Amino acid sequence: MSFFESIKPLIYKIDPEIAHNLVELALKTARRCPLFFNPLIEKNFIDEPILNQKIWGLEFKNPIGVAAGFDKNATMIPAWPALGFGWGEVGAITPKPQEGNKKPRAWRHIEYEAVQNAYGFNNEGVEVIKKRLQKIYPFILPIGANIGKNKTTPEEKAIEDYKILVSELKDVVDFFVVNISSPNTPGLRDLLNEEFISELFKELKNLTSKPILIKFSPDMEDKMIINLANLSVENRADGIIVTNTTTNYDLVNSPIKRGGISGKPLQKRSFEVLRIVASEVFGKTTIISVGGIDSSEEAYKRIRMGASLLQLYTAIIYKGPGIVREINRGLIELLKRDGFNHISEAIGVDVPKKLTKKDSDAS
Ligand SMILES: Cc1cc2nc3c(=O)[nH]c(=O)nc-3n(C[C@H](O)[C@H](O)[C@H](O)COP(=O)(O)O)c2cc1C
Repeated sequence: MSFFESIKPLIYKIDPEIAHNLVELALKTARRCPLFFNPLIEKNFIDEPILNQKIWGLEFKNPIGVAAGFDKNATMIPAWPALGFGWGEVGAITPKPQEGNKKPRAWRHIEYEAVQNAYGFNNEGVEVIKKRLQKIYPFILPIGANIGKNKTTPEEKAIEDYKILVSELKDVVDFFVVNISSPNTPGLRDLLNEEFISELFKELKNLTSKPILIKFSPDMEDKMIINLANLSVENRADGIIVTNTTTNYDLVNSPIKRGGISGKPLQKRSFEVLRIVASEVFGKTTIISVGGIDSSEEAYKRIRMGASLLQLYTAIIYKGPGIVREINRGLIELLKRDGFNHISEAIGVDVPKKLTKKDSDAS
């Protein structure tokens, strides 16, 4: 039994938010002890040519990234490689600091390997986080900022919040992820509409030449996903991240009726949304998959279905700090097993071809 497996029951006795704060403290302390920290990087950080990719001019040593929400205030970035991550997102960051929703606001569904959270963008605000990023940027791994509007900002003024965030952070991160898919800020998901997205991308593209991505909710109807995927491409989105957490509370027994569910129960829908998006826009923008990725087999499936990069959060809670290394090692084996010399050869091989008029005439 691994050390993590043996202390797991103890960890699960602690409130999830407190446990996360303890992990943050441990990682911040550990990075000040190179004797402990450097061997961790050596062990967990996989940097093999078969997994190296250049996307948007940035070097990704391996495809597994820190999902948004794990490092909300950008306090743990130096520890990312020690956990094996090849890149990551900080945030969600809002213009003004905000407390988030009232506690408790995170719960485990242990038997489902799931987490439910209703944090509501608690963060120290752009000013403080920018200063923190300035100290380490550029970092050895690509860093993205997950950006969201303040709870008190009315929807009709939301664009202003996103503009402030991009203007403030454009010199201290490598790319942006527009977050209008979190279930924990009232009205935010209403912004997942044609008018707002077109206007938003027009404004943000004027402010920076750095990549701007959009993150989708898994709870949209398939038709809407198709529309928004095409719309995102038309508006020059540099990437689409699928997906955020789900409010489909039927996925677990005794759900709390607020917040979003992540982890294993989200796996199926997250893959389905990836399939829908990839079928529509694969090759036209970069697709990133997140939601229930907890093994190399699942990661490989997502790559074959069109994802160039992947992210995870909940798997760390259930599988422990070695999970990113395990996935990367397994991915290399799976790629080689199937005769691929490089990850790029596998990306999208399973994406269903769209039936064109010509194809249907011929059949
Ligand atoms: C505690 C927690 C906080 C999160 N906060 C954010 C956030 O601030 N912004 C965001 O875009 N996604 C956030 N997410 C969603 C994750 O980035 C990810 O999309 C989702 O958890 C699915 O991945 P997973 O199953 O690997 O956890 C959060 C997830 C969790 C569990």
